[in-house]
Amino acid sequence: MSRKISMAVIRRLPKYHRYLRDLLEKDVNRISSKELSKIIGFTASQIRQDLNNFGGFGQQGYGYNVEELYKEISTILGLEEEYNTIIIGAGNLGQAIANYAGFRSSGFRIKALFDINPRLIGLKIRELEIFDIEDIKEYVTANNIKIAVICIPKDKVQSIANELADAGISGIWNFAPVDLELPEDVIVENVHLTESLFTLSYLLNEKKLGHELPEE
Ligand code: NAI
Repeated sequence: MSRKISMAVIRRLPKYHRYLRDLLEKDVNRISSKELSKIIGFTASQIRQDLNNFGGFGQQGYGYNVEELYKEISTILGLEEEYNTIIIGAGNLGQAIANYAGFRSSGFRIKALFDINPRLIGLKIRELEIFDIEDIKEYVTANNIKIAVICIPKDKVQSIANELADAGISGIWNFAPVDLELPEDVIVENVHLTESLFTLSYLLNEKKLGHELPEE
């Protein structure tokens, strides 16, 4: 099935996914857009509009079947796949990501870390070995690695990303403050915690000024 869904809707999907999983854990089988609106914070019409993108889930007078919707959103998000993943940079951030078990349970199988520091190479974070960055290209090709998480200082990021692209990586989860330029077939998702922090500071400032805060 081919469909064109806006990035704005896609950015909201993980939130639907999280809330629907919570509902399933509480054995809630169905929910109206109005009830979903109360817990998730989007308006009921926004929810109906969003979910209409994926076919007629909601039924008049019934609401949404939570399990069906959860499964469909999981499929749309590609969460039924398993992604072999590596982390580039075994410093503070790389180690924190390697230590978080939740990624594995969502299908992101972290296989190894890579670093340039000889004192780190050969060590393990949990059961994951830290390899020499020199061997990155070979490893990606030999181990069917789909995703690389970039957690190194910005100066070498573009050249390492080029190597990853040459080795056939599919996606890069980029934490470094660099806008990567890569062939179109490599998908890059940037994460900048500071942007989120600045949004918080904006909202705190608005509140201090007595302004009404924007809706979700
Ligand atoms: P860190 O200094 O603790 O770790 C960086 C690691 O990268 C070190 O182990 C170092 O040996 C390794 N490294 C350096 N050059 C390398 C290369 N060419 N190849 C392989 N490994 C190499 O730094 P930290 O705090 O973990 O931050 C890492 C990156 O993540 C930085 O670019 C930082 O700006 C970024 N960052 C981004 C955040 C975000 O919200 N996007 C939040 C925190 C950090």
